[in-house]
This record gives sequence, structure tokens and C-alpha cells, in this order.
Amino acid sequence: MFLQLIVITFVLTNANALNKIVTFPFSITSRLDSTSFYRYKNQSFSFTTFTDTTNSKNSTSDQNELAIAQDASFLSYSAEFLSIIGSNPDLKLIQEQPASAETQFAHEGGAYIPETNEVWFTANQLPKQNTNMYSINLKTNQITQLNIQPPILTPNGVNYFKGYVYVCSQGNTTTPAAVYAVNPTTYSSRIVVNSWFGYRLNSPNDVTFTTKVLGKKFMWFTDPQIAFMQKFSGVPQYRSTVFRYDMMTSELRPVITDIITPNGIAFNQEENVLYVTDTSPDTDTAIVYAYDLNKDGLPINRRVFSVSSIGLPDGIRVDRNDRVWIAEGDGINVRDRTGALLGVILSHGLSPAGVISNFGLMKNTVVILAQETVWRLDLPVDVL
Ligand SMILES: *[C@@H]1O[C@H](CO)[C@@H](O)[C@H](O)[C@H]1NC(C)=O
Ligand SMILES: *[C@@H]1O[C@H](CO)[C@@H](O)[C@H](O)[C@H]1NC(C)=O
Ligand SMILES: *[C@@H]1O[C@H](CO)[C@@H](O)[C@H](O)[C@H]1NC(C)=O
Repeated sequence: MFLQLIVITFVLTNANALNKIVTFPFSITSRLDSTSFYRYKNQSFSFTTFTDTTNSKNSTSDQNELAIAQDASFLSYSAEFLSIIGSNPDLKLIQEQPASAETQFAHEGGAYIPETNEVWFTANQLPKQNTNMYSINLKTNQITQLNIQPPILTPNGVNYFKGYVYVCSQGNTTTPAAVYAVNPTTYSSRIVVNSWFGYRLNSPNDVTFTTKVLGKKFMWFTDPQIAFMQKFSGVPQYRSTVFRYDMMTSELRPVITDIITPNGIAFNQEENVLYVTDTSPDTDTAIVYAYDLNKDGLPINRRVFSVSSIGLPDGIRVDRNDRVWIAEGDGINVRDRTGALLGVILSHGLSPAGVISNFGLMKNTVVILAQETVWRLDLPVDVL
């Protein structure tokens, strides 16, 4: 089933600025030239719009540099980031949905399906709950609405593992939440898990897989109380949890119970470091946690991997060099394995609200899910 979407040329506020790269030294993030400054938390974009409370004009060199960066598409803090995006990055608009659409069609997911060379993604469940899932064919850039049977209610995070596409279904007040497996060529779906000892899952948000931990096939997923917070599901039956599911024995085990709103989840390439993003609505806790695993494959040694300087960390992916890519309030932040920020693919020119919740990474392509728009960025180097 093809989605009837009209492809329109996206009109940017400053079309010339699309693809502009600005390189900053880290020092601008830790020392400003002003004698008195203040950053409003409600600023809609990045830290480049801080207020110098003593000058209304660009009286300092920092303020000038930051002003120049305000229409950039890329903020670089490192040569490594510049080598990833190249000297002539080319953000391509793949599709924009008509303004009449009831929900934002490109919200979550971003899983690469090798059999079909597609990336699958899901629509926003606000303001209206739905079962809308889509694929983008990476050869043709064709976007297709998927006819999954049975349909998956309130879908969110998506990931691929050994021939199947796994989809988090957040449920509603009447239908329990679940994680589904979908055959990527027949589109038939089945429930993998929907219960922990008879309790309903809260609203599974994102899912990932390991094969190296204990040599077993594990599915790991976050189960925050987001469907309840967004008022489309009932009172949660237990706290926000990260689960580990043994795909051979079907044992479902809570393994993290102290993150406020666990959301994105990913492992490094060796599968011995686990990352979980916390999208707690309190922006003072916009934290990505890292964990090691103990000899029983259970998360230990929780530490702060990164904190978002604006908005919340949501979708997270680790590339083949163990760089960690995280969708945050200002766009996709790329960090090295130690957590040092390498650069940011800025979101404010890509969607009216300037919000990216998730994205896909495969080979040298980034598929950017920017809510009302889908963009593609082809890199000069393979990252996965
Ligand atoms: C942000 O907050 C400040 C201080 O409360 C206020 O003066 C300003 O108008 C706000 N800006 C926006 C865009 O809401
Ligand atoms: C501040 O600098 C930017 C970039 O150079 C320029 O576009 C803007 O007009 C300047 N604003 C003021 C108030 O001088
Ligand atoms: C929950 O979803 C099911 C399946 O789409 C639907 O039939 C039902 O009406 C929904 N319940 C509510 C309360 O919206």
C-alpha cells in the first residue's frame, strides 16, 4: 500500500544555510567573553542563542561566532566529525507530508532491513494514536506505508534481528502493550512478549539485541511509563524498567529499575557496554547512562555517559568505531566512546519544530526522521 504523500520542495527560512558547517573550539562551551550572560532554558535552539545581559549587540567575539552558527546545519568540535560528514555535506529531503496529516509520520524507529535494503520507521502517536509504519527504500528513496497484519497498535521503537523486524507497541487502555516480530517480506506480525508474570508491560519504547553476552540471543528493551504520561494508556502496573529477554528460554527479566524514563537503548560493538537514554520530562536529568555487564550478563557500574545541553536524549545508535550517535534537543549529537562530543547534525532547519527523535544508520547513510520530513545524508565514509 503506497502512502499518498505529496513531495514538495521544502522551503527553509534560509535555504543558503542548509549544509553550512561551523567549527567551534570546545573553549566556547566553557568560557564566554562576556562579563555577564544568561542562557534561558526555553531557547528553542542550541546554546548559540545565549543572552549577553550587558550588551544587546554582538559586542564580543564569542557572541559573533555564536551568531554566525545560528543558521548552521553542522556544528563541529573535532577533525573526526569533519571527516565523518565530509567537506560538502548534502542533506537531501526525501519526503514531506501534507500539512493535513493527523500525526507526524516520521517519528521513531530507523531500523535497517538488509534483505530489502529498507529503513523502517513509525509515526508519532500524538495527538492521535495509530498503527502507521513506513519503509524507505534506500535505492529509490520511495517511502511506502506498510500493511502489517495484524496491525501493530501505537508502534514506536523498531530494530532488526536475524530475519525479523521487532517493533515496540505501546498499547492503549484496552489493548496491552507488547513487542512484536514482523516478517519484512510478508508483513505478518506476531507477539513476542506482552507480560511480566501477568502484569501488562507499560509501553515498550525501544529495543536492541545481543549475541555475544553469555553467548546467548538476548532482546533488551526499555519499558517506560510514556503511554500513561501521554494519556493513551492506563495506570502502570510497575515502575519504569529495562528488560532482558532470553530468546531461547523466553525468560523475561527486569535488569534496570532506577532510570526515570528509559527510552533509547544500544550496545557497543563488543556488546560489553550498554547505553540507555533517560527522557525524563525534567530536563535537568537529560542523561545517557552507560553500564558494564557482569559475568551473568547483568548491567553494573552505572555512570553518566553524556548529558544533553538542550532537550532530551532519545534514540541512540553506536557506529562501527563505537562512536555514539544520540538524538537530542538540538539534533543528532555524535560522541566518541569516552563521551567527548565530536559534533552535531543540527535539527532546526530540518523540521518546523526542529525535533529529531530517532534516525537510521547503515553503511554510509544517515536517514533522519524529522517528524514531518524525512532527510537523507550520505557520508564520505562508512560508519556501520
Ligand atoms: C524565555 O524566558 C524568558 C524569561 O522568562 C522570557 O523573557 C522570554 O520571552 C522567553 N522566550 C520565549 C521564546 O519564550
Ligand atoms: C550579529 O552577528 C551576526 C553574524 O555576524 C549578524 O548577522 C547580526 O546582524 C549581528 N547582530 C547585531 C545586533 O549586530
Ligand atoms: C485500543 O486499540 C484498539 C485496537 O486498535 C481499538 O480497537 C480500541 O478502540 C482502542 N481503545 C481505546 C480506548 O482507544
